[in-house]
Amino acid sequence: MTLIRMGSSIKIGKTLRNFCTTSSSSFARKIGLDTPDDITAGQQMIMTFRERVENRRNEAKRSVIVQVQSEKSAADLYNYCSEYGTIESMHHYCLNEQSHFILVEFKAVSAMEILLNQCCHLNESHIIPTRTPFLWFRSKSPRRKQARTGESDVPILKHQYGTAIPTDKDIKNLLQGAKSLSEQINVLYSATHLNDVGERLRFLTARQIEIALCGPFPNVKALPFGSSVNGFGRMGCDLDIVLQLDTDDSHEKWEDCRLVFQAKTSSPNGRASSQRLMETVGDMCQLFLPGVTGVKRILQARVPIVKFQQDLTGIECDLSASNAFAVQMSELLYILGSHDVRVRPLVFAIRAWARYVGLTNPVPGRWITNFSLVLMVLYFLQQRSPPILPALDKLSMSSPALNLNHLDARPARSPIVGSAHEGISAEQDNRVETVGILFTEFLAFYSSFDFNNLAINLLTSANTIKPEHSPLYIVNPLEPNLNVSKNVGSEEVAKLRIELRNSAWLLESADVTSTSDKSVPWGLLTFFRENHHISKEQKSFAPPVSKRRRVSINKLFLEETR
Ligand code: GTP
Ligand code: MG
Repeated sequence: MTLIRMGSSIKIGKTLRNFCTTSSSSFARKIGLDTPDDITAGQQMIMTFRERVENRRNEAKRSVIVQVQSEKSAADLYNYCSEYGTIESMHHYCLNEQSHFILVEFKAVSAMEILLNQCCHLNESHIIPTRTPFLWFRSKSPRRKQARTGESDVPILKHQYGTAIPTDKDIKNLLQGAKSLSEQINVLYSATHLNDVGERLRFLTARQIEIALCGPFPNVKALPFGSSVNGFGRMGCDLDIVLQLDTDDSHEKWEDCRLVFQAKTSSPNGRASSQRLMETVGDMCQLFLPGVTGVKRILQARVPIVKFQQDLTGIECDLSASNAFAVQMSELLYILGSHDVRVRPLVFAIRAWARYVGLTNPVPGRWITNFSLVLMVLYFLQQRSPPILPALDKLSMSSPALNLNHLDARPARSPIVGSAHEGISAEQDNRVETVGILFTEFLAFYSSFDFNNLAINLLTSANTIKPEHSPLYIVNPLEPNLNVSKNVGSEEVAKLRIELRNSAWLLESADVTSTSDKSVPWGLLTFFRENHHISKEQKSFAPPVSKRRRVSINKLFLEETR
């Protein structure tokens, strides 16, 4: 057995990070990976992470969200907005029975700007007159002459009820209707992964923050990261945003520049500045931005954050600044997730399993997080024989000839990728293991994993000895001297082991294919518990949980140690 200690991992992590921050060409291309992407109108486009993010940002710059009476207002709204420019697409969503919205995407930014210039404020003294692309569509003024009538040129809404999340019951029915474990996993993925409307709304939510700050910071970027963009997002997932106040990185040109901006100095203690900045941004969001409610400033965390809810898009947000590797981590996960069509469905199945058996919990605490679970799945896919993903030390950063594709990984170029059944291809190709087989292999792999002595380390194919005695040690691939699962307690690791073994045994003894008797649970349904939403404390068979076991959200990043 080859064992490595942490030193060499750190070197690889640094190279990887430098790689991610190289702006001349995309990270994905440099390591020789193509990252196939979502499809629009049935057309497959190959997009790198950065192209995809840029695309979504541009879409957001051309879009407005309009609160309407119902989806039936679409025709009227279309006719009204068309007066200002060509409409590219319209998407309806609903946050509850009463609140309907239509996202209108224009073809050109200029059209949206003209439209915003024509908008008015309610004539009330107590409103804060902020201008953001979040609007109302009020009923027609009797004085206003209708410009166009007829509905002949009204486009069909691209989505209706675009943010609807399938209920547990819907999911159960879908799983019941599948024919095999693999089909269940693919169906679960298709039904629950973040869709087009979900992504648009997340980028528009981030855009609102940019608009609010672009006076003093014209180059500001509010960049989504985490599951909203890394390809592992579920419908309804939170939105993590990192602020970059000035993104003009062409420092070389500054040497010849004779006119220099006057500027205030920030506190020599970077952390204090960052806290102050987040506090101010929190105040600004709370006081000025329509839709923003429930602002909480969590300034003592390693990465100070502001949490809030955007009521007009229905999204929970975590906003931070100076979160150095946030976007690079998303890019890395996006690339690995794009590498093989089975990766994302498998991650969804493992996360669903972990939720069903009570290993994860929406409340932050000493349990394993979704992010850690993703890294565990990716590590398993690197370690299995033959590997489906390469260890990151197998990448040659300098030679594009040596890339991930040569390492027995099926390039994710299946014609099915991106279609309504995205991900359902392994099963049709009998040369490769189905995602169902990978699911059972995952359970077996971690059932016998030496959690006591080994770390989970994506940077190397050799086994890594834990550098310290955290119950679970998952090396952060971009900052390899950090453990991303530092928060996990030993009782949770014990529970993880038990659940892995129980589940492996259950799957082995239960049917993995559909039976005619619908009352007999099979495949993923074996783990599905009606009460899986009850709190962890209620159903954990570990010793009763004391209040001390919980850590607050602001400790999450603090807990990571060097
Ligand atoms: P969900 O929100 O559960 O859908 O998944 P997520 O991946 O977005 O997780 P979360 O919102 O908790 O975190 C957002 C991102 O922050 C993750 O994708 C990681 O890139 C990063 N992150 C989360 N937890 C940690 C951690 O403990 N250490 C480090 N370095 N990064 C973390
Ligand atoms: Mg998140």
